[in-house]
Amino acid sequence: MYLGLDLGTSGLRALLTDDAGRTVDSASASFTVQNPHQGWSEQDPEDWINGLRSCLSALRAQNPTAFARVRAIGLSGQMHGAVALDGSDKVLRPCILWNDTRSANEAAALDSDPQFRRISGNIVFPGFTAPKLAWMAAQEADLFDRVVKVILPKDYLRLYLTGQHATDLSDAAGTSWCDVAGRNWSEVLLAKGGMRLGQMPHLVEGSEISGTLRASVAEEFGIPHSAIVVGGAADNAAAACGSGCVEEGQAFVSLGTSGVILAARDTCSPDPDTAVHTFCHALPDRWYQMGVILAATDALNWLGRLVGEEPAKLASRLPDCPTAPSATHFLPYLSGERTPHNDAEIRGGFIGLDIAQDRSDLTAAVMQGVGFALRDSLGALRSTGAQVDQLIAVGGGTKSSYWLHALATILDVPLARPADGEFGAALGAVRLAMVGDGHSITDTMVQPEIDHIIEPDRSLSAAYEASYAQYQALYPNIKAALS
Ligand code: XUL
Repeated sequence: MYLGLDLGTSGLRALLTDDAGRTVDSASASFTVQNPHQGWSEQDPEDWINGLRSCLSALRAQNPTAFARVRAIGLSGQMHGAVALDGSDKVLRPCILWNDTRSANEAAALDSDPQFRRISGNIVFPGFTAPKLAWMAAQEADLFDRVVKVILPKDYLRLYLTGQHATDLSDAAGTSWCDVAGRNWSEVLLAKGGMRLGQMPHLVEGSEISGTLRASVAEEFGIPHSAIVVGGAADNAAAACGSGCVEEGQAFVSLGTSGVILAARDTCSPDPDTAVHTFCHALPDRWYQMGVILAATDALNWLGRLVGEEPAKLASRLPDCPTAPSATHFLPYLSGERTPHNDAEIRGGFIGLDIAQDRSDLTAAVMQGVGFALRDSLGALRSTGAQVDQLIAVGGGTKSSYWLHALATILDVPLARPADGEFGAALGAVRLAMVGDGHSITDTMVQPEIDHIIEPDRSLSAAYEASYAQYQALYPNIKAALS
């Protein structure tokens, strides 16, 4: 039996599988995000542990025999968050999350040093970990002075489970302290960021063993003390493992809280100026590149809150496929943007609203705007040499047929929709646990069964192309207007 634990931004999912990685049961817990100031986004790591404990208790209650046979546990998690610990592993302040933009100035300062892009392979985005610690040094000096370790969100679960400070390379790659090509911490970057190697967790590959369960945890949940906990992966790398995107040419698009187009790479070919992220994959000697937009379903959730309707309900009011592009444009920069603009200051907008429009028109505009933002990312990704001929479509937003059809036409790429079942980050975490327990990579990291392929609607291509040109022209104008 294997366990995969995926610590997302909106909740934690625990997946229990049999020895072949087939689902036995799952449990979930949800979290809120605190936004105490504009641009701030925080969570209390204790909420994650409470969520973890409630998921493990629920799974154990339903599957006591299976739990007693768990051999390995894999972790996956939201990236970049800074969990700052003192010498007794006490959390010093709420975790500053990946979509927090308070450290834009610190990020720009670090990024202006060419060593960061050269060694880490990436722009130092405000959401990444290093600028968050630089912000703490500037704004919370008392707390900063007490930081003994900085770990990433999923690694706080590991600390609870095993008592170890460790992380895996796919997550370390998103800190700006890592030598992404050399797959190690960079002492040069750490020093430039005001940090020390001793403050970093031990590094392992995603499928490598990071420790075994603490006796108290093993007893409380009825899992063997000998159960291993593998490195696991950052959520996007884990999702790539779950959907079998581990080799050159394999790629997915994810409509989650953030939006991602990810391509697995056999080599490390960073091109930071494109604002494409180049990170270590969760398996040795592999990398991946991705374009990231900060608000995908987050944009639809935002609209849902404004109009007082669940996002799924909003989506259900739309037809199965678009018949024309939306005349209204939506710029999804609600929390700033990463790829391709690298702009923490920019904010979103609706352009071209009409008095006759209703909430469905706005829903369609939001979906289209997210699609166009992903098209920007796809262009950037291709410019790094990544080949993308087909994308596996994953994430909560793909439940909307309208959104998927619009996206296929906007990207001009066929989208492969997996059949119902597991193919996400929790399964990726399970698969890394399986490889850590001796299964072969080739037999384990397979692509999901595809239910159907959504082809671009070529009869609409020219219209969407014209609409995309309008969309692209808006960013510089909005930027000028807001500055
Ligand atoms: C990736 C990123 C997001 C988070 C979402 O760089 O910031 O995809 O990992 O959880």
